[in-house]
This record gives sequence, structure tokens and C-alpha cells, in this order.
Amino acid sequence: MAGDCILLAIESSCDDTSAAILKNGQVLSNKIANQQVHEAFGGVVPELASRAHQQHILPVVHQAMDEAGIRLGDLNAIAYTQGPGLMGSLLVGSSFAKGLALSLGIPSIGVHHMDAHVMAHFIDEPKPQFPFLCLVVSGGHTQLVLMRDAHSMEIIGKTKDDAAGEAFDKTAKLLGLPYPGGPLIDTLAQNGDPTKYHFSTSKMEGYDYSFSGLKTGILYFLQDALKKDPGFLEKELAHVCASVQKTIVDYVLSNLLRAATDLGIQDIGIAGGVSANSALRKAIAFEAEKRAWRSYIPDFAYCTDNAAMIGITGYTKYLMQEFSSIDAKPFAR
Ligand code: KG4
Ligand code: ZN
Repeated sequence: MAGDCILLAIESSCDDTSAAILKNGQVLSNKIANQQVHEAFGGVVPELASRAHQQHILPVVHQAMDEAGIRLGDLNAIAYTQGPGLMGSLLVGSSFAKGLALSLGIPSIGVHHMDAHVMAHFIDEPKPQFPFLCLVVSGGHTQLVLMRDAHSMEIIGKTKDDAAGEAFDKTAKLLGLPYPGGPLIDTLAQNGDPTKYHFSTSKMEGYDYSFSGLKTGILYFLQDALKKDPGFLEKELAHVCASVQKTIVDYVLSNLLRAATDLGIQDIGIAGGVSANSALRKAIAFEAEKRAWRSYIPDFAYCTDNAAMIGITGYTKYLMQEFSSIDAKPFAR
């Protein structure tokens, strides 16, 4: 398409409201409003999330536009998360995006949230070369995505039950830590011995994952340890966090490395909220270097949910003129 593309992107699939401005695929701003209301409940409460999105969306869009120095009349398209995610949350972002696009007479572009996590790799340099194998680990998904070229995404492995992020968050809950527990486990693990406790993971067919056995294993381990010593967690919390973290990191990486070896792929990456995990970031870099492969991790700000990743995905669709109709329904999964 001729001329510049100034794109507003909106992400509202779960509990963060985010808006970004991109000019020809370059991120000019990326603002995020986090929701604290869920902490007390130990997980995201859908009804509270959609209400908070309604409060946050306009200020966050204003912040993104002000920081980028862009006015409404400058916009060429609006990209939004079409799903998957919480229905009420998705509706706030998609209705806002469609309504604004309609009033400005510009196209709206629905984006798949999981595609966007992978596409976060294509925001900054160096960009992965194809074929590229990406492990997407978030609060709702765990997937191995194969990109043979810029326009194809094939899921070659996925979890049969919980996601890696849920494994972190549910472990944190068992340990009495607030939601979301993933980042807290990461912090506490810094002072722990990752080899002190052993937890087993399930070997699945192909490149699939299952986390339900691990979760039960951790529950029984803690019940047992606390029965023997009620003060166990006060002394051992950091070691338990480090050991659980190592178990999850080794498990998610094992299929990525095996699949890349099987398929002869030398460009590998991680994406999604759990890719913010420091142990996982270190481990993928180490494993890739050992094999003389290239590993990629998006900038920290583009790992957890953010609108810039929706923007870069929307921009590739804009170039292909893949616009969405006003009655586009949320993707279920
Ligand atoms: O991608 P994301 O922001 O939202 C979803 O699409 O689900 O991922 C959120 C997940 C949560 O489970 C959170 O605990 C986890 O990512 N997470 C982490 C870390 N930062 C975020 N897990 C482990 N270590 C971290 N540093
Ligand atoms: Zn996500």
C-alpha cells in the first residue's frame, strides 16, 4: 500500500489494557495499564477485568497517542485483539477499536493473540530467520509454533491441560503467594537451590505437554512436607521456588530443543508472559549457544501482554490488506 501506515493497536484479552502506536511497523509508543483488583482473589475475575478495561482504555489510548505525537486524524488503521481471551475483556477492546475505526473511516484489523506473541519477535532487530521455531508460554497457552515463512504459523505441539504460566501461578497459590505468582517465583528463586527438590513431569506424545501431574505432585509434596514440619515453607520457600522453576523451564525447553533437532531448525525463540522468566531466558540462550543455533527473546516489554505485538501483527495484515468486518466475532481459541 502506498504512503505511511500509522496504526493504533489495542490489547485487552485478559487483565491488562494496552495501547500502542506504530509507524510503518516501528513502535512509537506502547502503554500498559495493569489491573490490581484481582490480587485479592488469587486469579483474574472476568467481570472485574472488563469493568477495569472500560475505565482504562481511553486514558491508555490517549497516553499512547500523546507519547507518539499522533492525532486521531493521522491514523490509517486500528488493530485489536480479536481473541482468544476473556469475552467481556475482548469486547471492550474490540468495540472501542471498531467504533473508532468506523467513525474515522479507516479499516479495523482483528489479530489473534497467540500469533501476536510470536510476532513480538519481529518488532526489534535482530529478527529471526525462517524456518523459526517459537515456544509460546503464557498464562493461557503453551504451544510450539513453527513459522516456515513470514505468513505461516503451524502449531506442532501444545499442552493437553494447564499452561506453563498456570503451573507457575497455581504453584504460587499453593505456596501462599499472591496472583500472578510467576514473577514472584522468579524473584524468590534467585536465592534458592534449583537442584534441592525434584518434581516429575509427564512425557507426552510428539511435542505435546501436560502440567496436571506436576501440579498434583507439588500439592502432595507440600502436604507431606508441612505435615512433617509446619515451618517448612518459612525455611525452604526459595529452594522450592527454584526447584519448581527449574522443572518447568527444563520441561518446556525439552520439546523445543527436540523438535528443532528433528526438523533441522537453527532459529529458536520464546514468547508469551512466561518468556519474561529469567531462568528460561538464560537457559534458551545457553542451549542455543551450545548447538551453535540462534536464539531470540523479545524485549521484556513485549513478552507479557502488550499492544505493540498486536500492532506488528496488524501491520503485516495491513500490508496484505487483510481487514476485518465490523461484525468480526472474537476467536474462541
Ligand atoms: O502472556 P501473558 O502476559 O498473558 C496471557 O496471555 O496469559 O502471560 C501471563 C503469565 C502469567 O501466568 C504469569 O505468572 C507469567 O506469565 N509470568 C511469569 C513471569 N512473568 C510473567 N512466569 C514466570 N516468571 C516470570 N518472570
Ligand atoms: Zn498473552
